[in-house]
Amino acid sequence: MAAGWSTVITYPVHMGFRATITPMTVKPGTSGKLLAISDLHVSHPENRKITEGIRPESGDDWLLVAGDVAETVGEVEWALGLLRERFARVIWAPGNHELWTARQDPVRLKGEARYRRLVEVCRSLGVTTPEDSYPIWEGADGPALIVPLFLGYDYTFRPEGASTKEESLAVAYESGVVCADEVLLHPDPYPTRDAWCRARVAETERRLSAEAGGLPVVFVNHYPLVREPTRVLRYPEFAQWCGTELTADWHIRYNVAVMVYGHLHIPRTTWYDGVRFEEVSLGYPREWRPRPVPPGRLRQILPHPPAA
Ligand SMILES: [Fe+2]
Ligand SMILES: [Fe+2]
Repeated sequence: MAAGWSTVITYPVHMGFRATITPMTVKPGTSGKLLAISDLHVSHPENRKITEGIRPESGDDWLLVAGDVAETVGEVEWALGLLRERFARVIWAPGNHELWTARQDPVRLKGEARYRRLVEVCRSLGVTTPEDSYPIWEGADGPALIVPLFLGYDYTFRPEGASTKEESLAVAYESGVVCADEVLLHPDPYPTRDAWCRARVAETERRLSAEAGGLPVVFVNHYPLVREPTRVLRYPEFAQWCGTELTADWHIRYNVAVMVYGHLHIPRTTWYDGVRFEEVSLGYPREWRPRPVPPGRLRQILPHPPAA
């Protein structure tokens, strides 16, 4: 990291969070890369080792982390802290696993309170969250507004024949493919996970209309903003835990440069309406082991890679 660039980032009071001031060193990147990964799942020892090996190519690189770092607050803090020491900036969006109130986690907080705790932890590390000012990437192919999102899902990516959430869940329970979120991801104080999702989408839309301006946007969300990437799931019933139809037009409504997501554990690049979508997950050892490429490679988001 170049010396001489030391500034103070002030976090806005937003969504009821207390404003904090955390000293950070930020370089107005000119030669670095905007890189991304998700689904580190560091509770798996092999994934923990891979995470320990993640390093930037240069001191100017930024890293987007699109959720599912771990299931315990302590492990999330360890992984993001390690990455923050190495990258000029780390930007995190929560996955469903961070939001689980898992048996092995001494932090027993649920739902919104758990999310707030994770945001506090990130701020103490100098990691940017969906509750902070959106940073501007000023490096190659910038400027671009980096927008980490926490939107959740609302059971609208329904299986064939299901027209309501209840019917959708019934199909899943009948097939035996049910996401562990149904037991571990509590929506408190919202009545349901879908109500929490709708509230997050509405609040994020308000914020984007006020802050997005005319800059190209890089969205970072645990789930894809459109349903199409879920069409290749081995178990189509699982799609209902993978996003919301409420964001189906966000990639064309906003000036989107790239949409970064994970969760599906199907790393690939796809295009929808001319917008590049990057699924950047590491995934579980049993998933990455058979792949020909070494696990843990970071995906280049900006500058746009030559193939893009
Ligand atoms: Fe995951
Ligand atoms: Fe996930």
